[in-house]
Amino acid sequence: MGFLSSVGVEKSEVKKHFVRHGFIFACTDKSEETLLSNRIILTGKNYANKLFAVKEGDFIFLYNLDKDVLYGTFTAKGEPGYDKDIPIFEGRYPYYIRFETTQTIKKVEKASSIFRSLNISWRDILTEKGALLIKNILEGRAINRFRKEEIVDDKYIPPMMTTTLWDYPYQSYGYTKKGNNKYPGVTPAFIIYNLIWRYTEPGEIVCDPMAGSGTTIDVCLEERRRVVAFDIVPTRKDIIQADARNIPLKDETVDLVFVDSPYGDNIKYNDHPLNIGHIPASSEEFYEELEKVMQECYRILKKGKVLAWLIGDQWAKGEYIPVGFKIYERLTKYFSPVDVVCVVRRNQASNTPFWHSKALQHNFYLRGFKYLIIVGKDESVKKKGTKIRWNFYER
Ligand SMILES: C[S@@+](CC[C@H](N)C(=O)[O-])C[C@H]1O[C@@H](n2cnc3c(N)ncnc32)[C@H](O)[C@@H]1O
Repeated sequence: MGFLSSVGVEKSEVKKHFVRHGFIFACTDKSEETLLSNRIILTGKNYANKLFAVKEGDFIFLYNLDKDVLYGTFTAKGEPGYDKDIPIFEGRYPYYIRFETTQTIKKVEKASSIFRSLNISWRDILTEKGALLIKNILEGRAINRFRKEEIVDDKYIPPMMTTTLWDYPYQSYGYTKKGNNKYPGVTPAFIIYNLIWRYTEPGEIVCDPMAGSGTTIDVCLEERRRVVAFDIVPTRKDIIQADARNIPLKDETVDLVFVDSPYGDNIKYNDHPLNIGHIPASSEEFYEELEKVMQECYRILKKGKVLAWLIGDQWAKGEYIPVGFKIYERLTKYFSPVDVVCVVRRNQASNTPFWHSKALQHNFYLRGFKYLIIVGKDESVKKKGTKIRWNFYER
């Protein structure tokens, strides 16, 4: 990938931080024998993000949903991979992790009642202690007392969102920092995590033209996406200095663009004269400049791919400005709409008794959410995904 090395992307590395975890993956009667004999776990898109959280050396268990039998204890071998041409099950489950076992394979019947008695689900990610507990059960040993939070690590990866209301209480997740939560206007990392698992595959290229403290870079590298990030004032060496109105990438080279732009002049990012965050959201100039960014995003994005734009409204100097609607209007001049998500705002500087009291006294509202506007380059973006029989979908 010539342009990536020319912009210095290969310098970024996944930060290593290994805390051992346990993962239970499901199979059926049809797949059990193939998975056990090939010492491989395969999943489709719905559990791909969980599979990609596995690190070499983690504990793995296989749960047969048809028989309600649990097998183990296995150890992850190598790192997870993605191969759409994998010659097992005609490539329907392209995400894989190999495993090994030093002992004969153990099994326990009525696994669901074990999960119930431990108050866990097979979908949970287990701590090392939780994995050792399951290992002991498989080996017929007595188990010690425990508290649920000791055996399940529910902050290791964020949840995959399935509605258009997204909320997660923390800026980051897991054991490595994503971006810098002291950076003004830092993006909550779970947003980028959800976008890349929805709209890209491992190895694909993500671009963030207004990268700030680099949250997009950190999430992408951990999830094995290639990433190229720019900012008018780079805060770290893997962000390249560029104006988002003139992105130094070739046409149609990127699989996803994520933009968390300034929302007006409410936050002081830096003093650079080309910083769009100097322009107030009340002036048309603000939207005209951001429209130039949209045109660049359109140019660099491959056909059928997605741009996601995070933006919040403004209430300033007694005036409400529907920044989100205005940005949506401009975006849809170029792109086709895919969806609009409402992201709950957390940890706002204005979330204080002082500001809540001002909001009542002066009859205005504090901003409680942001828009995540998801748009696609050309119509084909909407047609992706499996056909659903909508008559079974009840609202
Ligand atoms: C909301 S912040 C991005 C936060 C970032 N996603 C993070 O998690 O840290 C907006 C960024 O846009 C950058 N910016 C403003 N004008 C720009 C321009 N013309 N070209 C590129 N970046 C620009 C600012 O420097 C700031 O870092």
